[in-house]
Amino acid sequence: MAPGDSVRAAQEFADRMVTRRSVRHFSPNPVPDEVVAEAIRAAASAPSGANLQPWRFVVVTDPVRKRRLREAAEAEEREFYTRRASADWLDAIAPIGTDWHKPFLEIAPVVIVVFEVHRGPHSPKPYYVKESVGIAVGLLISALHHAGLATLTHTPSPMRFLNEICERPSEERPYVVMPVGYPAPDATVPGLVRKPLSEVMVRY
Ligand SMILES: Cc1cc2nc3c(=O)[nH]c(=O)nc-3n(C[C@H](O)[C@H](O)[C@H](O)COP(=O)(O)O)c2cc1C
Repeated sequence: MAPGDSVRAAQEFADRMVTRRSVRHFSPNPVPDEVVAEAIRAAASAPSGANLQPWRFVVVTDPVRKRRLREAAEAEEREFYTRRASADWLDAIAPIGTDWHKPFLEIAPVVIVVFEVHRGPHSPKPYYVKESVGIAVGLLISALHHAGLATLTHTPSPMRFLNEICERPSEERPYVVMPVGYPAPDATVPGLVRKPLSEVMVRY
């Protein structure tokens, strides 16, 4: 690619990516299965320590399982918000306006639960698991956004309940829960500002 074309491509990609926002109000309208599968294909192309690809993407569309996800997540989150969260943490998330209610886990047409895959009967000991899965999830979010879908990076605490609901073995550890779909027509997002490039980038 010619340098000028690279600059244009980089600008176009950045312009698209900076329009991504975490969405917490979803439309129940279905999304094509292929879009989710292609986004996971992109995510699974991520670099990983020793190429061990220590990830599993569980796609939940079944309403009964989504309801179980919501109920279990809300039970953990209610406990977290009312008892376990530190005052500092509650202060930090106050501008985002979240609480223990997680209706999006039932309303969003798709919920992708991402697991880290550790050493088990069918999986070797992985290296740099969190880094590898984090990069894969970054690609997943980008691919879904590129396809016009909204996501939320949701991390109920603790997350072990996800193994039972997703029927995953103990060597798989929940990493993130991601509702996916179209934003509700009346969806709003908190007003946030990004740090300027001059603050986050250092050049020598
Ligand atoms: C690792 C991680 C965990 C997060 N966990 C939650 C969560 O449990 N619930 C939630 O509503 N948002 C969660 N978020 C979303 C952040 O609040 C959000 O990304 C941040 O406020 C910036 O907003 P934006 O995504 O719209 O740019 C999480 C984000 C990350 C990266």
